[in-house]
Amino acid sequence: MSLASLHVLALSGSLRTQSINSAVLLAAQSLASANLTVTIYRGLGDLPHFNPDLDTATPPTTVIALREAINASDALLICTPEYAHGIPGTLKNGLDWLVSYAPFSGKFVAIINARPGADYAQASLREILSAMNARVIEKACVTLPLTNNTLDTTALLKLPVIRERLQFSLTTLENILRQ
Ligand SMILES: Cc1cc2nc3c(=O)[nH]c(=O)nc-3n(C[C@H](O)[C@H](O)[C@H](O)COP(=O)(O)O)c2cc1C
Repeated sequence: MSLASLHVLALSGSLRTQSINSAVLLAAQSLASANLTVTIYRGLGDLPHFNPDLDTATPPTTVIALREAINASDALLICTPEYAHGIPGTLKNGLDWLVSYAPFSGKFVAIINARPGADYAQASLREILSAMNARVIEKACVTLPLTNNTLDTTALLKLPVIRERLQFSLTTLENILRQ
């Protein structure tokens, strides 16, 4: 019997073209099993600044697109840099647009930390997700031993430790989603 396909939506906290966090998510995408689709969400930078006045029955189209992608996902995979001891404003803004979006509540989340350190951002992200009633799957959260941000996806995929940790994260997440 074939397994149902699962959909994971990946959010990078960086808009930088050569972002290591985005490269990590692309590596995860290429390592995912045949039954788990990882889609990289590329619209975080297009969202307007969150404003409750805009969060009406007809929100901006970019917000609708984000919410539809969230609704279509079984889980989220987040990989973010730390900016000034917090998470980047782009990611926080995207999450703010999801606070009042009911399907976000209870969403499974795995967090990939691209490098040791950045503890403030990691802690802050967990606190925000907790406030939003997301379910962070700690067993599926991994830290990668990267010491710089110059590697691209191809280079990352050549490193056994990166492949192993990303595969571990995805497999653990998939197993929990299938329970
Ligand atoms: C504006 C800014 C603030 C930063 N603040 C921190 C910080 O507080 N702590 C930290 O560990 N790294 C900090 N960094 C370093 C970034 O986390 C690092 O460059 C990371 O690789 C950026 O992610 P990216 O490659 O995905 O764009 C900062 C970088 C920038 C551009």
